Amino acid sequence: MEEKVYIFRIKRFNPQSGPESYFQDFEIVLSEYERVLDGLLKIQSELDPSLAFRRSCAHGICGSCAMRINKKNRLACQTLVKELPKVITIEPLPGLPVIKDLVVDMDPFFEKIAEVMPYLINRDPPPERERLQRPEDQEKILEAITCILCGCCTTSCPVYQQSKDYIGPSALLRAYRFIFDTRDQAGKERLERITSKIGLFHCHSALKCLNACPKGIDLPAHIFKLKKLALKTAIRRKD
Ligand code: SF4
Ligand code: FES
Repeated sequence: MEEKVYIFRIKRFNPQSGPESYFQDFEIVLSEYERVLDGLLKIQSELDPSLAFRRSCAHGICGSCAMRINKKNRLACQTLVKELPKVITIEPLPGLPVIKDLVVDMDPFFEKIAEVMPYLINRDPPPERERLQRPEDQEKILEAITCILCGCCTTSCPVYQQSKDYIGPSALLRAYRFIFDTRDQAGKERLERITSKIGLFHCHSALKCLNACPKGIDLPAHIFKLKKLALKTAIRRKD
C-alpha cells in the first residue's frame, strides 16, 4: 500500500493559553486508504497528546467528527487523505464557539433542533403494537431520516453565518421529517414555529447545505417542499 507524507495544518486554540488561535503544522506518513481521522489520531498518540477533537463511531454514523477540511465542512472519518493535496488544512466548524482546537460548542446548533420539537407527537391512545405507516408514506421521509446531526449544513449556510438566530437547514430538515410523517399530529405547530422569527423564508437557496451534507441529503428540495406547504397553508387560512 502506497504511503505518503502529509502536512496537517491544524487550527489550534486553548483558552487557558490565551485568546488567540494559530495554525500548527504536523508532518505525518499515511497510507492512501487512511482518513483524516486516522491522521489526527496519529498526531494525538505520537506527536501531541494535547490536540483536541471529537470522534466516536469512526464510521460516519454519529456525526461527531465534523470539521472544516480544506475549506469544506466534512466528516474526518469519511475523508480519505488520498482525495486531498499534501497540505491539509483543518479548522473547527465555522459559526460555533470554539472550546478547544477542533472542538466546538454544539449547544447553539442543538437548541435550534429542539425548537422544532424533534420527536413524534401523536395524542391518540397507543395501539397494541407500533403505529403503522404505509411504505409509500415512509418513502417521503426516508432521506430526511438519514440525517446524523453533524452540523455541516447549518454551519456552512451563509444566512446562518450572518445571523445566529436563523433556524438553519438542519433544524428545517428535522421539522420536515415530522411534518411529513403521517403518524405525527403536530405538523401545524411545527410549521408555525419554523415560519415565525428568522425561519423558513429566510432561506435564500444559496445551496451551500447541499454540498456540505456528508450523507448526500438534498436539503434544498426538502426546504422547498416545506415552503410550498407553508404557502398553501397560509392561502387556505386566508380563504
Ligand atoms: Fe449533517 Fe446532512 Fe444532517 Fe445537515 S442534513 S446535519 S449535513 S447529516
Ligand atoms: Fe462518527 Fe465520524 S466519528 S461520524
